[in-house]
Amino acid sequence: MKIVIAGGHGQIAMLLHPLLKTDGHQVRGLIRKEEQAGELKAVGAEPVIADIENEDDISEAVGEADAVVFAAGAGPGSGKERKWTVDRDGAIKLMKAAKKNGIKRYVMISAMGLDTPRGDEVFQVYQQAKAEADDALRKSGLDYTIVKPGRLTNDPGTGKVKMARWLDPGEIPREDVARVIRTVLEDHRTIGKEFDLIRGENSIESELLRLMEG
Ligand SMILES: NC(=O)c1ccc[n+]([C@@H]2O[C@H](COP(=O)([O-])OP(=O)(O)OC[C@H]3O[C@@H](n4cnc5c(N)ncnc54)[C@H](OP(=O)(O)O)[C@@H]3O)[C@@H](O)[C@H]2O)c1
Repeated sequence: MKIVIAGGHGQIAMLLHPLLKTDGHQVRGLIRKEEQAGELKAVGAEPVIADIENEDDISEAVGEADAVVFAAGAGPGSGKERKWTVDRDGAIKLMKAAKKNGIKRYVMISAMGLDTPRGDEVFQVYQQAKAEADDALRKSGLDYTIVKPGRLTNDPGTGKVKMARWLDPGEIPREDVARVIRTVLEDHRTIGKEFDLIRGENSIESELLRLMEG
């Protein structure tokens, strides 16, 4: 498959590129900083410059593909305004570009607990922005999967996870989120599904199977 990842230099994205490359996919990462291009090439992804916040139409940068992944985010250091312009509007721009280019498949890295926003004002705006992006995706007509991880860590992945439509708060290594996104992209039975994701006891495949049967 040809797969385009918005937020191509993000921490999850940088772990995802080599997994997809190993599985034989062609990967394009959208980045806004030219100086990150070399790092993407080193992990097997084609870097393409696109600022998802400041460009109205990113369809040219997205190009032809079989699937897109939204892995971008304004990040913890940003203020309220960028939660709307990146976390919500950037994700919606990627939906528009996918539709324009005839790409049906869209995998969203969302977050768990969006139905009950918590934390300070900026964090609550972040959760609202992510929730609105998810809602736009549900209504988009695209073949979506919404993956909702708990708090992300940089611990080494274990490949052992817990997935369900709703889970109590927990955390998960970014490496395991990347593995889940890889599996989701390769399994079309996950289309139309959304689920919380934290570290757990079971393999990704067995948790996905349970989710799809449930
Ligand atoms: N942190 C958590 O605990 C947590 C929990 C659940 C879900 N999530 C979500 O998980 C996702 C991935 O997390 P992560 O830690 O891998 O993210 P990350 O390392 O913060 O990466 C986000 C990427 O988005 C890019 N970006 C920001 N603004 C952009 C713009 N205007 N145009 C193009 N790219 C832009 C950044 O590029 P630059 O280098 O140019 O800034 C960065 O590479 C995010 O959507 C986040 O909201 C996070």
